[in-house]
Amino acid sequence: MLAPFTAGWQSNDVHPLVIDRSEGSYVYDINGNKYLDSLAGLWCTALGGSEPRLVKAATDQLNKLPFYHSFWNRTTKPTLDLADDLLSMFTASKMGKAFFTNSGSEANDSHVKLVWYYNNALGRPNKKKFIARSKAYHGSTLISASLTGLPALHQKFDLPAPFVLHTDCPHYWRFHLPGETEEEFATRLAKNLEDLILKEGPETIAAFIAEPVMGAGGVIPPPKTYFDKVQAVVKKYDILFIVDEVITAFGRLGTMFGSDMYNIKPDLVTLAKALSSAYVPIGATLVSPEIAAVVDSQSNKLGSFAHGFTYSGHPVACAVAIEALKIYRERNIPDHVKQIAPRFQEGLKAFAGSPIVGEIRGVGLIIGTEFADNKSRDSPFPAEWGA
Ligand SMILES: Cc1ncc(COP(=O)(O)O)c(C=O)c1O
Repeated sequence: MLAPFTAGWQSNDVHPLVIDRSEGSYVYDINGNKYLDSLAGLWCTALGGSEPRLVKAATDQLNKLPFYHSFWNRTTKPTLDLADDLLSMFTASKMGKAFFTNSGSEANDSHVKLVWYYNNALGRPNKKKFIARSKAYHGSTLISASLTGLPALHQKFDLPAPFVLHTDCPHYWRFHLPGETEEEFATRLAKNLEDLILKEGPETIAAFIAEPVMGAGGVIPPPKTYFDKVQAVVKKYDILFIVDEVITAFGRLGTMFGSDMYNIKPDLVTLAKALSSAYVPIGATLVSPEIAAVVDSQSNKLGSFAHGFTYSGHPVACAVAIEALKIYRERNIPDHVKQIAPRFQEGLKAFAGSPIVGEIRGVGLIIGTEFADNKSRDSPFPAEWGA
């Protein structure tokens, strides 16, 4: 049997771990070994791996209408209902319309296209650059990998695309100056962001994108006051704020969205993964009423909104997502996370004194441990040790 390419693949990984079934927070491999799936897949199965209501929602929809598309003013009832649900659930700022994709990467790509389309409609053809952050993860398609700030996703792929700029990673432990407080660190980063905008010309910068808590880049919660300060900067220069909530939405931090926790008031929102507890692929972009209105009017002038995927708003994925959202609300998952998070965070932080642990950091049900030789942030273990 020819093995598929697997992401993160290394030349010595000749025998992938083959997972066979799941039950709650556990998965089993084809040899019957049981594992605690602490990453919920890839921050995915927020409701566990065997939620019968999600299976029923999929089955019922498969029996009724397994597929219809959302082109040419056609769509399906679950697609409309899911859009309504998301627009009413996201309250950090008012959202006007949802667009559905199959993944977080496609949702971020769609944001870039929407923002370009929006600025063209407003007669601002030069306002096209995006600012992302070093160590961010926004996906792996051409555009979303460009927004990603991890060198491994760029090297030898001819990325990032030239319209993407990267500003500082907000990791206080690793990057603060001697004696600098978290607040001072956040002030310096906001100033660096402003300097970058001024150097490039504010009239060329379309949007800033950020995850509330950086995930794949190393689990990096923001330093105190960070989002207040960077939001003030982007607002000052009429730059849109895209919040990438792919791993922070639906309760993981102890609030329904990461934006609620950090008082982020975005213009565009990226969702995926826990949106359907990952039982069926689906991602979403939410856009503000202002952006939605401009996109609508431009599309009317042109005759159509010429962006979409065959599976945008797939009725089975939407039916599962509707049920998942119902469960998050019924079981009050954000409050549940709030209750159990201290035990989880403090339990792991008990290892903070170890000489090979540099920092243990997290919020809600996200936590990361950074290993470092002798606790020094300047002495990571050599990559080839696999620490
Ligand atoms: C914050 C964030 N954005 C975007 C993505 C990309 O999502 P997908 O893998 O569904 O394309 C991920 C995936 O891990 C992510 O963590």
